[in-house]
Amino acid sequence: MPLLKVVDRDGKEHDVEAKAGLKVMETLRELDYGIAAICGGMCSCATCHIYVDPAWVPKLPPAMSDERELLAELSYHNGETSRLSCQVEMTNDLAGMRVTIAPDE
Ligand code: FES
Repeated sequence: MPLLKVVDRDGKEHDVEAKAGLKVMETLRELDYGIAAICGGMCSCATCHIYVDPAWVPKLPPAMSDERELLAELSYHNGETSRLSCQVEMTNDLAGMRVTIAPDE
């Protein structure tokens, strides 16, 4: 299982096993310090917001327009490397990716 490096809202980094083929959101919502993911991955809540480490951004497929629009509309903390983790699929090629959980909205 590929590892994700997850920085929680207190700035602490954790190594977390993720499942390839699942959305990153599905791993993060299982964590005590994880995300709410209220809409369950329907790209309508933005409570799965993460920041992807800049070094990993080029390895990800770009965000689709609905993801970009939701981040712009619903997140006060939208940043250059912001993604909705329900729209990012974990793959073995992403092993070691570092993501930071965005502040609560
Ligand atoms: S879980 Fe709601 S937008 Fe990702």
